[in-house]
Amino acid sequence: MSTVTFKVFRGDRNGGELKDYTVEVQEGMVVLDAIHQIQAEQAPDLACRWNCKAGKCGSCGAEVNGKPTLMCMTRLDTIDTSKPVTVRPMKTFPVIRDLATDVKWNYEANKKIKPFTPAPGTDWIMFQEDVDRVQEFRKCIECFLCQNVCHVLREHDEKTGFIGPRLLVRTASLEMHPLDVENRLDMLKNEGGIGYCNITKCCTEVCPEHIHITDNAIIPLKERVVDEYYDPVLGFFRRLFGS
Ligand code: SF4
Ligand code: F3S
Ligand code: FES
Repeated sequence: MSTVTFKVFRGDRNGGELKDYTVEVQEGMVVLDAIHQIQAEQAPDLACRWNCKAGKCGSCGAEVNGKPTLMCMTRLDTIDTSKPVTVRPMKTFPVIRDLATDVKWNYEANKKIKPFTPAPGTDWIMFQEDVDRVQEFRKCIECFLCQNVCHVLREHDEKTGFIGPRLLVRTASLEMHPLDVENRLDMLKNEGGIGYCNITKCCTEVCPEHIHITDNAIIPLKERVVDEYYDPVLGFFRRLFGS
């Protein structure tokens, strides 16, 4: 057992500060355990969002020592606890209180994406390779860590004009679905703002589900937009034969 100092953000959207808490750390603990211990013993009013403690609900995203991560999946033996450990809320979204952020912007932006639209009279038969391709995207747990780290959203308070990596993943899951006949390329090019992504790959680095966001979702979508709007021959054949 050892004693570790945590510097935890306390405040709301109007401001706040880091407050020090000392925690008795046991082997196997994760950051969320430390936060729970602080809540139980020192600060019962400390707000944080969590649910599954298994890396599956996507609720407990925060910035631990400046790195966006799921608190329930960040073991203390993987970080340097010889110095104080800082825990802040995700920076890209407004703070509700302490470590809880307001992520409703993502659900509003999601409305720009047209829903799954199967071809009329479809027989619902799919090749396994087509299932496999979109299955990766369906692993998303909507933790919004990728949205949090993407500089295009992080540096623009209004966040208009770019739907961000999470929603590009969702768009890819629909656009690459073999039974879907909807066309979302106009949305991607315009209000989706896919051109703003300059392939920094920060989103891919933080994804707890290890989705290849940039290589498997964003770049193929960018290619489709380019084909559609800047290569009329390819765009014609795509519309003719589907994708
Ligand atoms: Fe989280 Fe990955 Fe989904 Fe982004 S794509 S919301 S990082 S699970
Ligand atoms: Fe942002 Fe990911 Fe593109 S971090 S800039 S969406 S590669
Ligand atoms: Fe569910 Fe961390 S508590 S992902």
